[in-house]
Amino acid sequence: MSENLVELDDVMVSFRNKEVLKGISFAIRKGEILGLAGESGSGKSTIARTILGLLSPKAGTVTKHTAEPQMIFQDPYGSLNPAYSISWIMQEPLRLHTKLGAEERQKKVLEMLAEVGLPENVAGHKPAELSGGQRQRVCIGTALMRSPELLIADEPVSALDVTVAAQVLALLKRLHDEKGLSMLFISHDLRTMYHFCDRILILKDGKIIEEGVPAELYREPKEEYTKLLLQSAGIRKEQE
Ligand SMILES: Nc1ncnc2c1ncn2[C@@H]1O[C@H](COP(=O)(O)OP(=O)(O)O)[C@@H](O)[C@H]1O
Ligand SMILES: [Mg+2]
Repeated sequence: MSENLVELDDVMVSFRNKEVLKGISFAIRKGEILGLAGESGSGKSTIARTILGLLSPKAGTVTKHTAEPQMIFQDPYGSLNPAYSISWIMQEPLRLHTKLGAEERQKKVLEMLAEVGLPENVAGHKPAELSGGQRQRVCIGTALMRSPELLIADEPVSALDVTVAAQVLALLKRLHDEKGLSMLFISHDLRTMYHFCDRILILKDGKIIEEGVPAELYREPKEEYTKLLLQSAGIRKEQE
C-alpha cells in the first residue's frame, strides 16, 4: 500500500512548441497539505490540470493511488453555472456519478451546506445572489460531494478579501484536520502558505527548484529564487 496519493515522475508538458513543464517529479502524500508556490506563468495550473487528466504529458507519468481528485479554482463564479440554483449545482456530481434519488441528493446538499458553513436557504439561491466567500464555500462543498481523498485548490483565496480569505482557509484547514482531506494547495502567496502547508514545493519556469517544510524553507532557503520570492512577500529582508 502506497502512502502517496499521487506521484508525478519526470512529467513534461508542452503547448505547441513551448515547453511549460520541464520534468516535474513529486508525490502528494496521504494526509498532507502540500503547497505549490511559484510566480504567475510558472506552470502551477498546468500541473493541476495534468494531475486531473485534463492534459496529457508529452513524457513522464502521473500515477494516482486514489479515486478522482477534485478541484477548486480561484474564480468561484466562473465554475458555477449562473442559470441554476446552488442545490442543483451541488447535486450535479451525485446525478452524474451515483444512483441517489432527488430526495437523497437534496438531503446530502443540506448536510454539505452545514459542513461548509452556509445556511440551508442558500440551496435555493443562484450563484449571483451570493458573496464571493459564499460562492467559494459552494465550490468546496460541490467538490466534496463524492468524498474525495484529495482536493486540488488552485489559488482558492487569491480573489477574496483578506478577512474572507482567512475564513475560507480556516474551513479548508478544518476539513483537513477533521476529515483527513489531503490537499495540493496552489498559491503565489508564501505568507499564507507558511501556516497552512505541511510542505512546500517551489516552482520556477516549469521546474521544481526547491522543497521543504515551511519553517526550514523560510529560514534557510537554498536557492536565490526562493529568497527573492520570500523577499517580495515581505518575509525576508534583503540583507539577511
Ligand atoms: N492552453 C494553453 N495554451 C498555450 N499556452 C498555455 C496554455 N495554458 C497555459 N499556457 C502557458 O503555460 C505557462 C504556464 O501557465 P500556467 O500553468 O497557467 O501558470 P500558473 O498557473 O503558474 O500561472 C504560461 O506561459 C502560459 O501562458
Ligand atoms: Mg494558475
